[in-house]
Amino acid sequence: MARRKIALIGSGMIGGTLAHLVALKELGDVVLFDIAEGTPQGKSLDIAQSGPVEGFDAKLSGANDYAAIEGADVCIVTAGVPRKPGMSRDDLLGINLKVMEQVGAGIAKYAPDSFVICITNPLDAMVWALQKFSGLPKAKVVGMAGVLDSARFRHFIADEFAVSVEDVTAFVLGGHGDTMVPLTRYSTVAGVPLTDLVKMGWVTKERLEAIVQRTRDGGAEIVGLLKTGSAYYAPAASAIAMAESYLKDKKRVLPCAANLKGEYGKKDLYVGVPCVIGAEGVERVIEIELNGEEQAQFDKSVASVEGLMEACRGIAPGLK
Ligand code: APR
Repeated sequence: MARRKIALIGSGMIGGTLAHLVALKELGDVVLFDIAEGTPQGKSLDIAQSGPVEGFDAKLSGANDYAAIEGADVCIVTAGVPRKPGMSRDDLLGINLKVMEQVGAGIAKYAPDSFVICITNPLDAMVWALQKFSGLPKAKVVGMAGVLDSARFRHFIADEFAVSVEDVTAFVLGGHGDTMVPLTRYSTVAGVPLTDLVKMGWVTKERLEAIVQRTRDGGAEIVGLLKTGSAYYAPAASAIAMAESYLKDKKRVLPCAANLKGEYGKKDLYVGVPCVIGAEGVERVIEIELNGEEQAQFDKSVASVEGLMEACRGIAPGLK
Protein backbone atom coordinates (compact mmCIF):
# COMPACT_ATOMS: atom_id res chain seq x y z
CA MET A 1 0.00 0.00 0.00
CA ALA A 2 1.26 3.45 -0.86
CA ARG A 3 2.08 5.67 2.08
CA ARG A 4 -0.70 7.86 3.43
CA LYS A 5 -0.50 11.61 2.75
CA ILE A 6 -0.77 14.08 5.58
CA ALA A 7 -1.19 17.77 4.77
CA LEU A 8 -0.27 20.29 7.43
CA ILE A 9 -1.93 23.61 6.68
CA GLY A 10 0.11 26.13 8.62
CA SER A 11 3.83 25.50 9.07
CA GLY A 12 4.53 27.51 12.19
CA MET A 13 5.43 26.16 15.60
CA ILE A 14 2.69 23.54 15.79
CA GLY A 15 2.89 22.71 12.07
CA GLY A 16 6.63 22.01 12.25
CA THR A 17 6.21 19.88 15.37
CA LEU A 18 3.41 17.93 13.68
CA ALA A 19 5.61 17.24 10.67
CA HIS A 20 8.39 15.94 12.91
CA LEU A 21 6.00 13.65 14.81
CA VAL A 22 4.36 12.29 11.64
CA ALA A 23 7.80 11.42 10.29
CA LEU A 24 9.10 9.91 13.55
CA LYS A 25 5.97 7.75 13.83
CA GLU A 26 6.04 6.91 10.10
CA LEU A 27 2.36 7.77 9.75
CA GLY A 28 2.86 8.81 6.11
CA ASP A 29 4.35 11.38 3.77
CA VAL A 30 4.04 15.04 4.77
CA VAL A 31 3.17 18.17 2.84
CA LEU A 32 3.71 21.36 4.80
CA PHE A 33 1.71 24.30 3.47
CA ASP A 34 1.93 27.97 4.47
CA ILE A 35 1.50 31.43 2.98
CA ALA A 36 4.97 32.36 4.24
CA GLU A 37 7.40 31.62 1.42
CA GLY A 38 10.32 29.42 2.39
CA THR A 39 9.01 28.38 5.81
CA PRO A 40 7.34 25.10 4.78
CA GLN A 41 10.16 24.33 2.35
CA GLY A 42 12.86 24.98 4.96
CA LYS A 43 11.13 23.01 7.73
CA SER A 44 10.40 20.02 5.49
CA LEU A 45 14.02 19.88 4.29
CA ASP A 46 15.36 20.15 7.85
CA ILE A 47 13.10 17.35 9.13
CA ALA A 48 13.81 15.17 6.07
CA GLN A 49 17.51 15.48 6.85
CA SER A 50 16.89 14.04 10.33
CA GLY A 51 15.49 10.89 8.65
CA PRO A 52 18.82 9.10 8.15
CA VAL A 53 19.68 9.71 11.81
CA GLU A 54 16.31 8.67 13.22
CA GLY A 55 15.78 5.92 10.67
CA PHE A 56 12.37 6.95 9.36
CA ASP A 57 11.19 6.73 5.79
CA ALA A 58 8.84 9.55 4.89
CA LYS A 59 8.78 12.08 2.07
CA LEU A 60 8.51 15.65 3.29
CA SER A 61 7.84 18.66 1.09
CA GLY A 62 6.86 22.28 1.51
CA ALA A 63 4.49 24.39 -0.58
CA ASN A 64 2.76 27.75 -0.92
CA ASP A 65 0.14 26.45 -3.33
CA TYR A 66 -2.89 24.45 -2.21
CA ALA A 67 -2.47 22.13 -5.22
CA ALA A 68 0.27 20.41 -3.20
CA ILE A 69 -2.26 19.00 -0.71
CA GLU A 70 -4.14 17.19 -3.47
CA GLY A 71 -5.47 13.79 -2.36
CA ALA A 72 -4.38 14.16 1.27
CA ASP A 73 -5.79 11.53 3.64
CA VAL A 74 -5.57 13.85 6.64
CA CYS A 75 -5.35 17.66 6.85
CA ILE A 76 -4.28 19.23 10.13
CA VAL A 77 -4.99 22.95 10.25
CA THR A 78 -2.93 25.39 12.33
CA ALA A 79 -2.97 28.32 9.90
CA GLY A 80 -3.62 31.63 11.61
CA VAL A 81 -2.20 33.61 14.48
CA PRO A 82 -1.49 32.40 18.02
CA ARG A 83 -2.01 34.29 21.30
CA LYS A 84 0.37 36.78 22.86
CA PRO A 85 0.45 37.44 26.63
CA GLY A 86 -2.74 39.12 27.83
CA MET A 87 -4.81 37.88 24.88
CA SER A 88 -7.60 35.35 25.18
CA ARG A 89 -8.19 32.77 22.45
CA ASP A 90 -11.33 34.72 21.53
CA ASP A 91 -9.23 37.79 20.60
CA LEU A 92 -7.98 35.84 17.58
CA LEU A 93 -11.43 35.37 16.07
CA GLY A 94 -11.50 38.13 13.45
CA ILE A 95 -8.15 37.27 11.84
CA ASN A 96 -8.43 33.51 12.06
CA LEU A 97 -11.97 33.38 10.67
CA LYS A 98 -10.71 34.86 7.38
CA VAL A 99 -7.90 32.33 7.37
CA MET A 100 -10.45 29.49 7.83
CA GLU A 101 -12.32 30.73 4.76
CA GLN A 102 -9.20 30.35 2.60
CA VAL A 103 -8.24 27.02 4.16
CA GLY A 104 -11.79 25.67 3.74
CA ALA A 105 -11.72 26.53 0.02
CA GLY A 106 -8.31 24.89 -0.41
CA ILE A 107 -9.40 21.68 1.29
CA ALA A 108 -12.72 21.57 -0.59
CA LYS A 109 -10.87 21.83 -3.89
CA TYR A 110 -7.94 19.51 -3.32
CA ALA A 111 -8.66 17.18 -0.39
CA PRO A 112 -12.45 16.74 -0.14
CA ASP A 113 -12.12 13.13 1.08
CA SER A 114 -9.71 13.90 3.90
CA PHE A 115 -10.18 13.77 7.65
CA VAL A 116 -9.69 17.34 8.85
CA ILE A 117 -8.39 18.20 12.32
CA CYS A 118 -8.56 21.88 13.23
CA ILE A 119 -6.26 23.33 15.90
CA THR A 120 -6.59 27.05 15.12
CA ASN A 121 -8.16 29.10 17.93
CA PRO A 122 -10.70 30.03 19.13
CA LEU A 123 -11.08 26.32 18.48
CA ASP A 124 -14.78 25.49 18.76
CA ALA A 125 -15.85 28.43 16.59
CA MET A 126 -13.05 27.93 14.05
CA VAL A 127 -13.76 24.23 13.49
CA TRP A 128 -17.47 25.03 13.07
CA ALA A 129 -16.63 27.71 10.49
CA LEU A 130 -14.09 25.47 8.74
CA GLN A 131 -16.68 22.72 8.30
CA LYS A 132 -19.08 25.24 6.77
CA PHE A 133 -16.47 26.88 4.53
CA SER A 134 -15.16 23.51 3.31
CA GLY A 135 -18.53 21.78 2.99
CA LEU A 136 -16.95 18.46 4.07
CA PRO A 137 -19.12 15.95 5.98
CA LYS A 138 -19.45 16.91 9.66
CA ALA A 139 -18.07 13.56 10.81
CA LYS A 140 -14.87 14.26 8.87
CA VAL A 141 -14.14 17.68 10.40
CA VAL A 142 -13.16 17.74 14.03
CA GLY A 143 -11.38 20.05 16.46
CA MET A 144 -8.41 19.25 18.69
CA ALA A 145 -8.77 20.58 22.22
CA GLY A 146 -10.01 17.91 24.60
CA VAL A 147 -7.03 15.60 24.15
CA LEU A 148 -4.76 18.52 25.03
CA ASP A 149 -6.86 19.79 27.94
CA SER A 150 -7.15 16.31 29.42
CA ALA A 151 -3.42 15.68 28.89
CA ARG A 152 -2.71 18.83 30.88
CA PHE A 153 -5.06 17.62 33.62
CA ARG A 154 -3.42 14.15 33.58
CA HIS A 155 0.04 15.67 33.84
CA PHE A 156 -0.89 17.81 36.85
CA ILE A 157 -2.62 14.87 38.59
CA ALA A 158 0.28 12.46 37.96
CA ASP A 159 2.69 15.09 39.24
CA GLU A 160 0.59 15.75 42.35
CA PHE A 161 0.39 12.07 43.34
CA ALA A 162 3.83 11.08 42.02
CA VAL A 163 2.35 8.31 39.87
CA SER A 164 2.82 7.39 36.21
CA VAL A 165 0.90 9.46 33.68
CA GLU A 166 -0.03 6.11 32.12
CA ASP A 167 -2.24 5.30 35.11
CA VAL A 168 -4.09 8.61 35.09
CA THR A 169 -7.14 9.12 32.90
CA ALA A 170 -8.95 12.42 32.68
CA PHE A 171 -12.08 13.81 31.16
CA VAL A 172 -12.50 17.38 30.04
CA LEU A 173 -15.70 18.51 28.34
CA GLY A 174 -16.94 21.73 26.80
CA GLY A 175 -15.33 24.54 24.85
CA HIS A 176 -11.56 25.09 24.68
CA GLY A 177 -11.50 28.17 26.85
CA ASP A 178 -11.92 29.46 30.36
CA THR A 179 -15.27 27.68 30.62
CA MET A 180 -13.96 24.17 29.89
CA VAL A 181 -15.30 21.51 32.25
CA PRO A 182 -12.71 19.13 33.75
CA LEU A 183 -14.79 16.28 35.21
CA THR A 184 -13.23 15.00 38.45
CA ARG A 185 -15.88 12.28 38.82
CA TYR A 186 -14.82 10.69 35.53
CA SER A 187 -11.08 11.25 35.98
CA THR A 188 -9.16 8.47 37.69
CA VAL A 189 -5.90 7.14 39.04
CA ALA A 190 -5.81 3.44 38.06
CA GLY A 191 -9.60 3.47 37.82
CA VAL A 192 -10.20 5.20 41.18
CA PRO A 193 -12.16 8.44 40.61
CA LEU A 194 -10.52 11.63 41.87
CA THR A 195 -13.60 12.29 44.01
CA ASP A 196 -12.87 8.98 45.84
CA LEU A 197 -9.23 9.97 46.27
CA VAL A 198 -10.45 13.06 48.13
CA LYS A 199 -12.43 10.76 50.47
CA MET A 200 -9.35 8.55 50.84
CA GLY A 201 -7.34 11.57 51.98
CA TRP A 202 -4.93 11.60 49.01
CA VAL A 203 -5.80 15.18 48.20
CA THR A 204 -7.99 17.90 49.65
CA LYS A 205 -11.00 19.24 47.78
CA GLU A 206 -9.36 22.69 47.69
CA ARG A 207 -6.10 21.34 46.24
CA LEU A 208 -8.04 19.42 43.59
CA GLU A 209 -9.95 22.58 42.70
CA ALA A 210 -6.64 24.42 42.31
CA ILE A 211 -5.45 21.71 39.89
CA VAL A 212 -8.70 21.98 37.94
CA GLN A 213 -8.21 25.73 37.67
CA ARG A 214 -4.58 25.32 36.57
CA THR A 215 -5.86 22.98 33.83
CA ARG A 216 -8.35 25.63 32.66
CA ASP A 217 -5.52 28.18 32.58
CA GLY A 218 -3.01 25.69 31.13
CA GLY A 219 -2.66 27.43 27.78
CA ALA A 220 -2.41 30.93 29.28
CA GLU A 221 0.30 29.77 31.70
CA ILE A 222 2.46 28.74 28.75
CA VAL A 223 1.69 31.89 26.74
CA GLY A 224 2.78 33.91 29.78
CA LEU A 225 6.07 32.04 30.00
CA LEU A 226 6.89 31.96 26.28
CA LYS A 227 5.81 35.58 25.68
CA THR A 228 6.13 35.24 21.88
CA GLY A 229 3.50 32.61 21.10
CA SER A 230 1.53 29.72 22.51
CA ALA A 231 2.10 26.03 23.31
CA TYR A 232 3.08 23.69 20.51
CA TYR A 233 4.57 20.39 21.67
CA ALA A 234 1.49 19.12 23.55
CA PRO A 235 -1.02 20.49 21.01
CA ALA A 236 0.86 18.74 18.19
CA ALA A 237 1.10 15.44 20.11
CA SER A 238 -2.64 15.61 20.81
CA ALA A 239 -3.60 16.10 17.16
CA ILE A 240 -1.31 13.24 16.16
CA ALA A 241 -3.18 10.91 18.54
CA MET A 242 -6.39 11.80 16.72
CA ALA A 243 -4.83 11.40 13.24
CA GLU A 244 -3.36 8.03 14.21
CA SER A 245 -6.71 6.76 15.49
CA TYR A 246 -8.29 7.70 12.14
CA LEU A 247 -5.50 6.34 9.92
CA LYS A 248 -5.23 3.04 11.81
CA ASP A 249 -8.98 2.77 12.51
CA LYS A 250 -8.09 2.36 16.18
CA LYS A 251 -11.47 3.63 17.37
CA ARG A 252 -9.92 5.37 20.33
CA VAL A 253 -12.25 7.24 22.67
CA LEU A 254 -10.91 10.78 22.65
CA PRO A 255 -12.41 14.07 23.76
CA CYS A 256 -12.73 16.17 20.60
CA ALA A 257 -14.65 19.23 19.43
CA ALA A 258 -17.34 17.38 17.46
CA ASN A 259 -20.53 18.41 15.73
CA LEU A 260 -23.54 17.74 17.96
CA LYS A 261 -26.83 16.56 16.51
CA GLY A 262 -28.90 16.63 19.68
CA GLU A 263 -26.42 14.93 22.01
CA TYR A 264 -26.22 16.64 25.40
CA GLY A 265 -29.33 18.55 24.33
CA LYS A 266 -27.34 20.65 21.79
CA LYS A 267 -27.54 20.92 18.01
CA ASP A 268 -25.62 22.44 15.10
CA LEU A 269 -22.51 23.41 16.99
CA TYR A 270 -19.06 22.08 17.76
CA VAL A 271 -17.98 21.55 21.35
CA GLY A 272 -15.74 19.18 23.27
CA VAL A 273 -17.30 15.75 23.94
CA PRO A 274 -15.96 12.18 24.09
CA CYS A 275 -15.86 10.64 20.60
CA VAL A 276 -14.89 7.39 18.94
CA ILE A 277 -12.40 8.20 16.17
CA GLY A 278 -12.01 5.55 13.46
CA ALA A 279 -11.84 5.14 9.71
CA GLU A 280 -15.20 6.91 9.26
CA GLY A 281 -14.00 9.95 11.23
CA VAL A 282 -16.11 10.76 14.27
CA GLU A 283 -17.95 7.43 14.45
CA ARG A 284 -19.83 8.07 17.65
CA VAL A 285 -20.36 10.79 20.22
CA ILE A 286 -20.53 9.25 23.67
CA GLU A 287 -23.13 10.80 25.93
CA ILE A 288 -22.07 10.45 29.53
CA GLU A 289 -24.44 11.26 32.34
CA LEU A 290 -23.85 14.66 33.89
CA ASN A 291 -25.07 15.71 37.30
CA GLY A 292 -26.82 19.05 37.74
CA GLU A 293 -23.67 21.03 38.47
CA GLU A 294 -21.72 19.46 35.58
CA GLN A 295 -24.60 20.08 33.16
CA ALA A 296 -24.79 23.71 34.31
CA GLN A 297 -21.05 24.16 33.71
CA PHE A 298 -21.36 22.47 30.30
CA ASP A 299 -24.30 24.72 29.37
CA LYS A 300 -22.27 27.78 30.34
CA SER A 301 -19.38 26.59 28.20
CA VAL A 302 -21.72 25.97 25.25
CA ALA A 303 -23.20 29.45 25.69
CA SER A 304 -19.75 30.97 25.39
CA VAL A 305 -19.09 28.94 22.19
CA GLU A 306 -22.45 30.13 20.81
CA GLY A 307 -21.42 33.71 21.53
CA LEU A 308 -18.30 33.20 19.39
CA MET A 309 -20.38 31.63 16.59
CA GLU A 310 -22.61 34.70 16.66
CA ALA A 311 -19.54 36.94 16.38
CA CYS A 312 -18.41 34.86 13.37
CA ARG A 313 -21.81 35.31 11.70
CA GLY A 314 -21.41 39.04 12.21
CA ILE A 315 -18.13 38.99 10.28
CA ALA A 316 -19.10 36.40 7.65
CA PRO A 317 -22.89 36.60 7.14
CA GLY A 318 -22.71 33.57 4.79
CA LEU A 319 -22.18 31.37 7.86
CA LYS A 320 -25.59 30.16 8.97
N1 APR B 1 -2.93 30.42 5.15
C1 APR B 1 -1.96 29.54 5.51
N2 APR B 1 -1.13 29.76 6.54
C2 APR B 1 -1.28 30.89 7.24
C3 APR B 1 -2.28 31.85 6.94
C4 APR B 1 -3.12 31.58 5.82
N3 APR B 1 -4.08 32.45 5.44
N4 APR B 1 -2.18 32.89 7.83
C5 APR B 1 -1.16 32.57 8.66
N5 APR B 1 -0.62 31.37 8.30
C6 APR B 1 0.52 30.67 8.90
C7 APR B 1 1.62 31.60 9.39
O1 APR B 1 2.45 32.01 8.31
C8 APR B 1 2.35 30.70 10.38
O2 APR B 1 3.45 30.01 9.79
O3 APR B 1 0.10 29.97 10.07
C9 APR B 1 1.28 29.69 10.82
C10 APR B 1 0.93 29.78 12.29
O4 APR B 1 2.05 29.41 13.00
P1 APR B 1 2.48 30.09 14.38
O5 APR B 1 2.33 31.56 14.28
O6 APR B 1 3.81 29.53 14.77
O7 APR B 1 1.35 29.57 15.39
P2 APR B 1 1.22 28.15 16.13
O8 APR B 1 1.86 28.22 17.46
O9 APR B 1 1.63 27.05 15.21
O10 APR B 1 -0.36 28.11 16.40
C11 APR B 1 -1.27 28.07 15.33
O11 APR B 1 -2.97 27.01 16.65
O12 APR B 1 -3.13 26.63 18.94
C12 APR B 1 -3.51 27.43 17.87
O13 APR B 1 -3.87 29.55 18.92
C13 APR B 1 -3.05 28.84 18.05
O14 APR B 1 -4.43 29.71 16.33
C14 APR B 1 -3.11 29.34 16.63
C15 APR B 1 -2.71 28.12 15.81
